Amino acid sequence: MPEHVLTNSDLEAMVETSDEWITERTGIKQRRIAKDISVSEMATEAAKRAMENAGVSSDEIDIIIAATITPEYFTPSLSCLVQKALDAKEAFCFDVNAACSGFCYALDIADCYIKTKKAKTILIVASEALSHITDYTDRRTCVLFGDGAGAVVTRAGDSKGMIDSVCRSIGELGNVLQVKAFGDNRFIEMNGKEVYKFAVGANVEIINNLLSNNRLAINDISHFVFHQANSRIISAVSSRLHIEAGKTYINVEKYGNTSSASIPICLDEMNRNGLIKQGEKLIVVGFGGGLTYAGALLEWV
Ligand code: UT7
Repeated sequence: MPEHVLTNSDLEAMVETSDEWITERTGIKQRRIAKDISVSEMATEAAKRAMENAGVSSDEIDIIIAATITPEYFTPSLSCLVQKALDAKEAFCFDVNAACSGFCYALDIADCYIKTKKAKTILIVASEALSHITDYTDRRTCVLFGDGAGAVVTRAGDSKGMIDSVCRSIGELGNVLQVKAFGDNRFIEMNGKEVYKFAVGANVEIINNLLSNNRLAINDISHFVFHQANSRIISAVSSRLHIEAGKTYINVEKYGNTSSASIPICLDEMNRNGLIKQGEKLIVVGFGGGLTYAGALLEWV
């Protein structure tokens, strides 16, 4: 996470808002802003920490997949910048643009390469500086977003690990959450209410899909890791699906919505704090611009 912190009271001085409104409607208290660090530097740092934790060296990486909607360049891709920084010469590299679902899409892609035996070790990095595309005069959006990066190493192995994954898109509704690539207004434009409605249904659909495809019940899952956009969305989904309290991990109060990075940031915190035990099943679910939504069922190895 970048060091600079932007609190709700900082935002009170920038737009007509209040800590009370932001906390009640979103659960967010503060977010990090990438002031002195670039998207590729955050990605590289996250990648190094994940590789160290996994005991994997740069020359073992076959593919680098980067999820981002805030790259530094149209080309070279973020993944190629990370390759250069890691000196991962054997890897081929590409980026995925699926907004806040980007990490889950990347997991699904990595799983396909591993299951078809085209790769053994794949590094996934998700890095975002949403502050670069946020209009800090628009109170409807500027209170929501933050910057950060997360990474995972996925490897071929004998144990289950990745059990199943599903990706969905509704291009028809792209205009409810968009950022133009060219022109004057290159900021996030969003119909919050529409995205909220979509988000609750999308999370429920993905979880039900993963459970029924794999003949599992909600109680078979130890942890649900949702894209951290808004704690109210997570509560609404949990109550619809009767997910037990304590099975959902939430850190949106510290970081706001970091788009594709939010799920790997959660996984890292959970892993380092010893919250996930070997053999436990997890479901991760992302949703966002596109519109896109996706999820994966994992067994922690
Ligand atoms: O990764 C996916 C990214 N997007 C999302 O996850 C967004 C999903 N949507 C949401 O989380 C919610 O829709 C929001 C948090 C964005 C907004 O909450 P809401 O309960 O849907 O509020 P609203 O848009 O209906 O606005 C209610 C009122 C409005 O005032 P009036 O028209 O009732 O007088 C807004 O102008 O709140 C006002 N408002 C604010 N007031 C203080 C909107 N933003 C703010 C603000 N501070 N920051």
